[in-house]
Amino acid sequence: MQGRVWLCKEDIVGLNHWTVNGRGSGTGGDYNPDQWPEDVWDDDIRLMKKARVNIVSLAIFSWARIETDDGVYDFDWLDRIVDKLGKAGIAVDMASATASPPMWLTQAHPEILWKDERGDICWPGARQHWRPTSPVFRRYALRLCRRMAEHFKDNPYVVAWHVSNEYGCHNRFDYSNDAMHAFQEWCKDRYGTIDVVNDAWGTSFWAQRMNDFSEILPPRFIGNGNFMNPGKLLDFKRFSSDALKRFFKAERDTLAEITPDKPLTTNFMVSAAGSTLDYDDWSDEADFVSNDHYFVPGEQHLDELAYSASLVDGLARKNPWFLMENSAGAVNWRPINYRKEPGQAVRDALVHVAMGADAVNFFQWRQSYVGAKKFHSAMVPHTGENSRIFRDVCQLGDDLQRLSEAGVLTTRVSKSRVAVVFDYQSEWATEHTATPSQNVRHWTEPLNWFRALADLGVTADVMPLRGDWDSYEIAVLPSVYLLSAADSERVRSYVRRGGRLLATYYTGISDENDHIWLGGYPGSIRDVVGIRSEEFVPMGDTAGALDQLELSNGTVAHDMADWITSTDSTVEVLATYRAPVRTGMDGVPALVVNSYGDGKVAYVGCRLERDGLRRSLPQLFDSMGIDLVRGKDDGKILRIERTSQSGDAVFVFCFNRSADDVVMAFKGDLLVSSNATVDEHGASVTLSSNGAVVFRQ
Ligand code: GAL
Repeated sequence: MQGRVWLCKEDIVGLNHWTVNGRGSGTGGDYNPDQWPEDVWDDDIRLMKKARVNIVSLAIFSWARIETDDGVYDFDWLDRIVDKLGKAGIAVDMASATASPPMWLTQAHPEILWKDERGDICWPGARQHWRPTSPVFRRYALRLCRRMAEHFKDNPYVVAWHVSNEYGCHNRFDYSNDAMHAFQEWCKDRYGTIDVVNDAWGTSFWAQRMNDFSEILPPRFIGNGNFMNPGKLLDFKRFSSDALKRFFKAERDTLAEITPDKPLTTNFMVSAAGSTLDYDDWSDEADFVSNDHYFVPGEQHLDELAYSASLVDGLARKNPWFLMENSAGAVNWRPINYRKEPGQAVRDALVHVAMGADAVNFFQWRQSYVGAKKFHSAMVPHTGENSRIFRDVCQLGDDLQRLSEAGVLTTRVSKSRVAVVFDYQSEWATEHTATPSQNVRHWTEPLNWFRALADLGVTADVMPLRGDWDSYEIAVLPSVYLLSAADSERVRSYVRRGGRLLATYYTGISDENDHIWLGGYPGSIRDVVGIRSEEFVPMGDTAGALDQLELSNGTVAHDMADWITSTDSTVEVLATYRAPVRTGMDGVPALVVNSYGDGKVAYVGCRLERDGLRRSLPQLFDSMGIDLVRGKDDGKILRIERTSQSGDAVFVFCFNRSADDVVMAFKGDLLVSSNATVDEHGASVTLSSNGAVVFRQ
C-alpha cells in the first residue's frame, strides 16, 4: 500500500470537509445512529454543524443491522444517514462493519469464536469474538467488505474506509486449532525447517524438542507457576500480530480492489502502556495511520499523552495522521473513571494536533443511554447540548478551524534534537516471567526519558526501532532489551558516524530470538558502550534485601543496576555507587561516558527513574559535549512546534505541565488559547493549569 496517497478530493463534499492538504482539520467522532430512533438524526446533524463536525466514522459495530441474516442486506437506513450527513457537509469514514459478528453467524458457525489458553470459548455477548485464522470467518467478513465496497463505491460522501476496529483489543491471542495450524505455517515461513525452530526456541532445554511442524502448539495453559518457553512466547506474540495483520490486509485489499480511490485506515491503540500489536510493523500497511488514545488519569496525563502522540507521529513516519478516538471526558472501563478537568479535553486534542494529527475524533458522538458504554463520555453527553462537554467540543471545532485556516495542515512536527527509542518486541520479551525482576520492563523507560527531558525543556521525538532514530543528533536506547545483530550494527554505525547515544541497563541483552549475547552485558554493544557487566543487581522491597542504591551524583537507583566490573580505557566514569561493602557495589561505576568512532556514548547502568534522570542529564550531556538548551521555564511548559516545508511558517504549541499558573512571553500571532489569559500588551500569556496556547511565529 506504500505509495498510495491520502485521496480526499475537494469536490467530494464541497464543504469544509477533512483533508490533509490544507483544506481543514478533521473533527468528529464515532457515530452510531443505529442506536437511536431516526428522529434523533436531524438533531445530530444540527449539533454536528454547531460543533463544526466534518467527518464521522460510521457503522463500526453495525454488521447485524446491515446483514440482518445470512446474505440478507439492509442498506436503506445507512443510505439515509450517509445522505443526510453528506448533504450537511459531513464526510463519512465508513467502517468495513466487520468488527463484531452477528448472532446468526456465531450460532451457525461457532467455530469462528476464539479460544483462550485453556481452550475455553470466548462467547458472543460483547464484541470482537472472532478468530482471524478462521477460514469461515474470513469468508463472511470479506463478503461483507465486498458488499460494503460495491454499495458505496460511487457514494461521494464516503471518503475513507475504517477497516474493522482496534484489531487485537480483545482477540489478540487465540489458542484454537485454527490458530495452531496457522502458527505452524507461520513458523515454517519464518524458519524453514523444524531444526531451526528448535534452535530458535532452545528446545533442548526441558525436553521440548520437536520432530515436525505438526508438533508445534500455541503456548496453551501449562499450569500455574510454570514457565512457558520464552522463545515460543515471543514468536506467538509476533504470530498473533501477523495473523491479525494478514486479516487486515485481506479486508483492506478486498475494499481497495473495488474502491481504489478511497483511502483506508485502521485504528491503532498506541499508548505508553500498550503493545498489543507491533504497530512499527503495521504502520506502512495503511494509507494513513490512525490512532485511538485514552488519557491516563493523574500526574502523567499530559506527558503520557504527548509521549504516545509522538510515538504515533514516528509510526506515521512523520506523515499526517488521524486521531480516530479520544474521550471528551471519562471513559468507563477503568475501576475509577475520572472525568476530564475543565480545559483538558481541548488541551488534549491540541497536543495530538501539535504532534502531527490533522484530525481529532472522539469516541463517540452521542453518549449511549443503554449498553456497555453508557457511562462513557461522548461529544454530546447525556445532559445534551447545554453542557460543559458540548461547549468544549464546540470550542475545539472553532480552534481547529482557525488553525487550519492559518495553514497548520501544511506543516509537519519539527524534528527534535533527541530521539527516544521505543521497541514493541523488547516490550514483549521483557514482560515474560522468569526474568531478573518482574518490575523491569522496557515500556516504563522511554516514558521516563521523555519526561525527564521535558523537565529540562526538551521535547523529544519518540521513535520506533524501525524508524529513523539514527538520523538524530542524540538518540536514547532505554532498556531496548532485544537487539539483533543488524540492529546492533546500526547502533555501532550511528555512534561511529558521530552520533550521541545514551543507552541504559537492560539494553542489547538478547538477540531477536531472545538468545542472550554472551561474554558480559550488554553483549551486543559492549564494544560501543565500553563497559562489561557481569551480573544484574535487582532491587526491591523484600525486607532486608537490597532496596536501592545511592549514586555519587546524589541520585538514587531503584529496581535494577548492572554490576559493571570493567571499563575500556576510553571510558570516563561519571558516577559510582555508594553502598555497603557487603553488596559488592561500593565504588562500582554507575554512569559512564565512552568515545567510540566519531561519537560519544553515555551508559546509564541502573534505573534512575524520571527524577534521577532529570538530575543526571546535564552531567551526561556535558560529558558528551552536548549543549543542552534549557528552557527558561524549568520544564513547566511542554513546547512542540510544527514547521512548513519551506521553514517560513512555524506554529508553536505550548502546554502548561504544572499545577500552577505559568507566565510565558511569546512573539507572533496568537491563534488559540484555552485556559489562558493574554496580558494587555499581547506580549505574554498566563497559562492556567491545563492551559494551552498556539501561536504562529
Ligand atoms: C475503544 C473502542 C470504542 C470504544 C472506546 C471506549 O476501545 O474502539 O469502540 O469502546 O474504546 O473507550
